[in-house]
Amino acid sequence: MTAPFQAFVVNQTDDGFTMGIQWLNQRDLPPGEVLIQVAYSPVNYKDALVCSPDGRVARTYPLVPGLELAGVVVESTDPRFQPGDAVLASDFGSTQGVSRHGGYSEYARVPGDFLFPLPAGLGFKQALVLSAGAPVAMGLRQLEKNDLAPQRGPVLVTGATGGIGSLAVSLLSRRGYTVAASTGKPDASDYLRQLGASEILSREETSAESNRPLEAERWAGSIDTVGGATLAYLMRTTKQGGAIAAIGVAGGAAFRATVFPLILRGIKVLGIDMPSTPLPVRRELWEEMTREATLLNLVDTIASEVSLEDIPRVTQAMLGGQTRGRILVRPSEQ
Ligand SMILES: NC(=O)c1ccc[n+]([C@@H]2O[C@H](COP(=O)([O-])OP(=O)(O)OC[C@H]3O[C@@H](n4cnc5c(N)ncnc54)[C@H](OP(=O)(O)O)[C@@H]3O)[C@@H](O)[C@H]2O)c1
Repeated sequence: MTAPFQAFVVNQTDDGFTMGIQWLNQRDLPPGEVLIQVAYSPVNYKDALVCSPDGRVARTYPLVPGLELAGVVVESTDPRFQPGDAVLASDFGSTQGVSRHGGYSEYARVPGDFLFPLPAGLGFKQALVLSAGAPVAMGLRQLEKNDLAPQRGPVLVTGATGGIGSLAVSLLSRRGYTVAASTGKPDASDYLRQLGASEILSREETSAESNRPLEAERWAGSIDTVGGATLAYLMRTTKQGGAIAAIGVAGGAAFRATVFPLILRGIKVLGIDMPSTPLPVRRELWEEMTREATLLNLVDTIASEVSLEDIPRVTQAMLGGQTRGRILVRPSEQ
């Protein structure tokens, strides 16, 4: 493969921040054992930060963003992978799309250790919708280790229409939980109910500041993709002995809370950090997600497709909290 190909490149120079489509050659790609023709690369919140001049996530420039990708192996010096194999490539935001070129490109070169083979019959789009479930499955694992079970009461998902939030609502409801969903989008009720939510809360309610250290006990557990004031709300309203899986920061980092939920209700705040999760555990989570066959019925509801040209618009909308579901960039029209 020698022909130039298209990629979306962000750059920061003395003249300022730029982003747009460029023609690259194979020699522009970073080292790695496996060359992949990219079918799709999703827009994660962290990708949106990479595409923002104030994002403070990119660790090198120029950079092709795209934390995750799925596609077909074109060349491989890693004996585990052969040309024609369908794979997903991700190191969960450690380097790919952050300090080495990622998936917003017709071709990507990656280390073999980043690759997860797609089981027969699982399409690229399906794989990338399921991959948003890995941090959710990790969060659920931690919650269940801390005694969460469907009979203990409802579980709240915050940032519920986001890529991870959508998977959280879907996965929890399929595992038998009563799921409440918090969203900033007043028109998202039908979408969230379709995914499995039985109660919808407004973002205003779940991000309201309060001087009260404790409020009525409501949630046996929660998956929080929002952070900030929402994490403080969850601490005030989690039931005795309940737990919060803190995954994200879409609503802000700082929060004001007291120790009373911890020492009077024994609640637990469980931090989830996928980049530092050991590779064998990530592989287990990926395999766990690929076994969630009933989630596949929701792929067309959750996923939408965009092209390389759409990336500036979509990433800006994401940072403004205006996107929904799992947005997949299709770098090539092929
Ligand atoms: N811990 C880890 O290892 C890990 C792994 C992957 C991702 N993450 C983090 O998880 C978070 C979600 O990622 P994602 O890719 O799912 O992003 P996403 O698709 O943009 O979803 C975030 C959702 O949060 C809500 N939101 C956005 N802005 C908000 C604001 N100002 N206040 C309150 N809610 C707001 C929106 O949902 P509603 O409109 O429905 O409220 C939005 O759709 C990000 O912070 C990401 O960095 C963490």
